[in-house]
Amino acid sequence: MTEYTQIFKGTAFSSTSPKEVQILKDYLFFINADGMIEKVVAPEHIDYQSLLDTYQDKENFHQLTDGQYFLPGFIDLHVHAPQWAQSGTALDIPLYDWLNTYTFPIESKFSDLDFAKEVYEDLVNTLLANGTTTSLYFATVHKEASLLLAEICAEKGQRGLVGKVVMDDPEQNPDFYRDADTQTALADTEEFILAVKALAKSTKQGVYPVVTPRFIPSCTDGALKGLGELAAKYNTHVQSHCSESDWEHGYVQDRFKKNDAFALHDFGLLGDKSVMAHSNFLNDEDAELFAETGTAVGHCPISNAYFANSVIPIAHLHSKGVDIGLGSDVSGGFSPSLFDNARQAVMSSRMLEDGVDASLPAEKRGVPNSRITINEAFYLATAGGGESLSLPIGRLEENYTWDAQIIDTKIASAKLPIFDVNEDLNDIFQKIMYLVRPENISEVWVQGNKVHERTK
Ligand code: GUN
Ligand code: FE
Repeated sequence: MTEYTQIFKGTAFSSTSPKEVQILKDYLFFINADGMIEKVVAPEHIDYQSLLDTYQDKENFHQLTDGQYFLPGFIDLHVHAPQWAQSGTALDIPLYDWLNTYTFPIESKFSDLDFAKEVYEDLVNTLLANGTTTSLYFATVHKEASLLLAEICAEKGQRGLVGKVVMDDPEQNPDFYRDADTQTALADTEEFILAVKALAKSTKQGVYPVVTPRFIPSCTDGALKGLGELAAKYNTHVQSHCSESDWEHGYVQDRFKKNDAFALHDFGLLGDKSVMAHSNFLNDEDAELFAETGTAVGHCPISNAYFANSVIPIAHLHSKGVDIGLGSDVSGGFSPSLFDNARQAVMSSRMLEDGVDASLPAEKRGVPNSRITINEAFYLATAGGGESLSLPIGRLEENYTWDAQIIDTKIASAKLPIFDVNEDLNDIFQKIMYLVRPENISEVWVQGNKVHERTK
C-alpha cells in the first residue's frame, strides 16, 4: 500500500483552458509527502472502489460533505502588503496624489517592525481566509520589514513571493520614504534575495525573493540596470507596475521615448518570471514583446476602475498569447478577495464590449469581443496565475501542488441559493464564483498542509 500524506474525495472545479472549467465529480486526490497531487482518480476508474476500500477509514482521508466543493487556491499577482493598513481610503483622488499624500507616508511607517508585524500578520491571515494561497507581494523599501513579511508567510504556510521595493531617485521620491542611494538600494536587494532564499529552505510551500523596482518613475537608470542584473544573477522573479495610468505612461514616454514594456526590456526586467501589474496601455508591439519574453500581466480590475480610467482588453491580450493572472492591488483595489476581483474582471470587460444595438455606431460603444466569462475570470485567478509565475500551481491536476479551498455552500450564515438537489454543476460553479463570501471558505490548504479553518 502506497503511503500518502492526505487523501481527499469530493467534487472539484479546475481550469483546463481559459474558457473551459473541468468538473471532477466525486474524484479522489492523493497527495504525497512533498504536498504534490500524485494521483487523481475518477469514479469510472477500474481501481476507484478498491482505493476507496483501502483508504477511506484512515485518519488522513477527507471526504467532502454534501454541498462542499474544492476549488484551487487563488493566486494574487499583485498585493501591496503595507497598504492593507489604508485599504478602502482615499480612492477618489488621482494615483499621483494618492501615492504622495496617503501611500508613501503609510509605507514609511514600516521601518517600525512591531507595526509591520501587526499589519502583515493580519493581512496574511485575511488573504488565506479569502482563499488566496499564493501572493506576489510588494513590501516596502525597508529590507528588514520585507524579510519579516517573507517570514510571516513562511510561518503561516502561505506561498509568498516578496519584493523589497526599490525607489532610489531623490528627484522623484520623498526624502522621508526612499532608498538612501542607488548603491544601497542594490546592496539591500541582494542581501534580501539571499536571506529569502535561505529562509525558503525551511518551508514546504516555498517563499521567493522578487526583484521589485516600484515603477520606472521611482527608479534611476542605474537602479533599473542593476536590478535587471540581480534578477539574472539569482534567477529571481521580477515585478513592477507597467503602463498603469496616463501620467505614468506619459512620464516614461518623455524619459525614454518608448513605452514601459520596451524600456523595462532594455533593463533586463522582462522574462518568464516577470509579472507586470496593470499593463493597461500595452499596444500590439508591447503585447508581442510580453508574449515573446514570457512576461505576464497582473490584471487588477478593481484598482483599474479607480486609478487607470481604462479597461484592459484581456480577451485581445489572450489572443496575442500573453500570460495573464489576477491581482487585488491592495490597496489601489479595496478588496483583498480574488472572488471580488474575478467578478469585477467580468463586469469591467462587459463595459468595454461593443454595443448590441447594430443601429448605433460601434466605435462609440466599445470594442467587439472584449467580454470575458466567469470561467475566464476563474482561470485568471488560478491556472493563469500559475503560468504567470512559472510554478506548478493553480490546477487540481497531477503534478500540481495541493493548494485548495473547500467551499461550503450550505453554511447557515452564508447559504448559497441552491434549491434543486440535482442542479447542474456548471450552474453551481457559477453561483460559487459570484456569491461566495469568506464565511463559505471552510478550509484552505497549501502544499498539502491545512493553513486555514473557518472558526465561526
Ligand atoms: N504605481 C506606483 N506605485 C503604485 C502603487 O502603490 N499602487 C498603484 N496602483 N500604482 C502604483
Ligand atoms: Fe500596485
